[in-house]
Amino acid sequence: MPELEAVGVVKRFGGLVANDHVDLSVERGEIHGVMGENGAGKTTLMSILFGLQTSDAGEIRIRGVPVRFRSPLDAMAAGMGMVHQSFKLFAALKVWENIVYGAEPRRGPFINERLAWASVAKLAERHRLAVDPDAVVGELSVGVRQRVEILKALYRDARILILDEPTAVLTPPERDALFSVLRSLAAEGRSVVLVTHKLHEVMAATDRVTVLRDGRTVARLRTTDATPRDIIQAVTGRNVSLRVDKAPSPPGEPLLRVTDLFVAGASGKSAVDRVSFSVRSGEIVGVAGVAGNGQCELVAALSGLCAPDAGRVEVCGASVTDKDVAARRAAGLAYIPEDRASVGTALAASAADNLAMGFHRAPPLARGPFIDPAAFAERARELIRRFAIRIPSERVNVGTLSGGNLQKIVVTRELSHEAPVLIAEQPTRGLDMGATESIHRQLLAARGKGQAVLLISAELSEILALSDRVLVMFEGRVLAELLEGEADEETVGLLMAGRPREAA
Ligand SMILES: Nc1ncnc2c1ncn2[C@@H]1O[C@H](COP(=O)(O)OP(=O)(O)O)[C@@H](O)[C@H]1O
Ligand SMILES: [Mg+2]
Repeated sequence: MPELEAVGVVKRFGGLVANDHVDLSVERGEIHGVMGENGAGKTTLMSILFGLQTSDAGEIRIRGVPVRFRSPLDAMAAGMGMVHQSFKLFAALKVWENIVYGAEPRRGPFINERLAWASVAKLAERHRLAVDPDAVVGELSVGVRQRVEILKALYRDARILILDEPTAVLTPPERDALFSVLRSLAAEGRSVVLVTHKLHEVMAATDRVTVLRDGRTVARLRTTDATPRDIIQAVTGRNVSLRVDKAPSPPGEPLLRVTDLFVAGASGKSAVDRVSFSVRSGEIVGVAGVAGNGQCELVAALSGLCAPDAGRVEVCGASVTDKDVAARRAAGLAYIPEDRASVGTALAASAADNLAMGFHRAPPLARGPFIDPAAFAERARELIRRFAIRIPSERVNVGTLSGGNLQKIVVTRELSHEAPVLIAEQPTRGLDMGATESIHRQLLAARGKGQAVLLISAELSEILALSDRVLVMFEGRVLAELLEGEADEETVGLLMAGRPREAA
């Protein structure tokens, strides 16, 4: 009998059906992957399983018995635990206090602190989840905080553990450590539901996988019987090529040159600490790193969104260090920002206006001081066709578009001008596999045309697939610069965690 089942679960948000008769069946002692593209309905289903939301129809069963959770407290009482996408711990409290919170051992009216502390220490040791019970949670890295969340569930003796995209915030070594903990939890008879949209994680960590697409269960597979192609087919509903074919391209002149760039951080620590590198024509240089190690500040200083405190930025041989965004564009810099909604687009404007933004002051879009609306519209229609953006017309207000289409508009605009230097910041974040593949092809095409591409991405597989060279950022510094052949997942992963190459 399955440990946990969802049968015909339906959840609507207004007119949108987020879960459309979803079925899920999780056995005792297995790691069960739940896979699907963004918006497929994974988080909605997990929220229903954990009592955070109520379904409109369908049934949840635990060991065959139908249950109705009115809140997560009910779910926890039934033996479920959840590690949330954004952690729900008290930053000011210690690790042990967080773990026992709400389930403290008591001695009369008092909390038995000594017993609580000792049980936490013992639990951490038993599950090889290295944490210091006395550390203050607010001072811990996200990887350690996640271990605290897991311990919190285990302290309540959760038999079923749900993790929603737990690896998004982890370095590769942290991810591997997490998987080995999950494996041993499954070996002692617990059930793990692992939500992810990453294929290699499903292949590496799960026993079976349920694939959701557009709110429906479209495949239920035993992982060892499934090929990566089967899973991708189920996830996307079509054939998507897995590999990016990267032709050799001899790099030319440096088009972007950064020298001793320094950006002071908010907290007195330096956000970007004397960073130097260059990107040559026909080259993609990837910047790898765990989010928050200075990548945002680096990009802001390169794009002109903020002024560097020291150092020099040159585009096509000319210094743009003191120039604003518009002057940097004029010098040959294009920029795909991470924040598409507020930096990348004007949500109240049309697709045509958005596709022209930043380039509207020059011919053919302007005639003298005047813009040319007909030229805007014509060019927009051509780009929408050429880059296969699925929108009804160039007149739609971009505020109404999905994240994927919004991103396609920004990428299309920035690529369409064939600027010598392109900065692409998290260009595929939040996109499905099809859109990701198309953007990867476009970045490679830009490289083929001799553009210099700086790719900043938290997705290590993306960096490794596309880059000719890889820079690894840690605490504001570039810890290493690796050539394509030297940059493998293990080496880069250790560097992302701050371990220099000699120690690795
Ligand atoms: N609280 C909500 N209100 C309205 N729509 C929602 C809400 N939560 C999720 N959705 C929508 O439901 C769909 C499924 O979302 P979600 O379950 O978060 O997908 P996933 O976790 O697979 O990315 C998406 O289209 C999303 O926009
Ligand atoms: Mg989700």
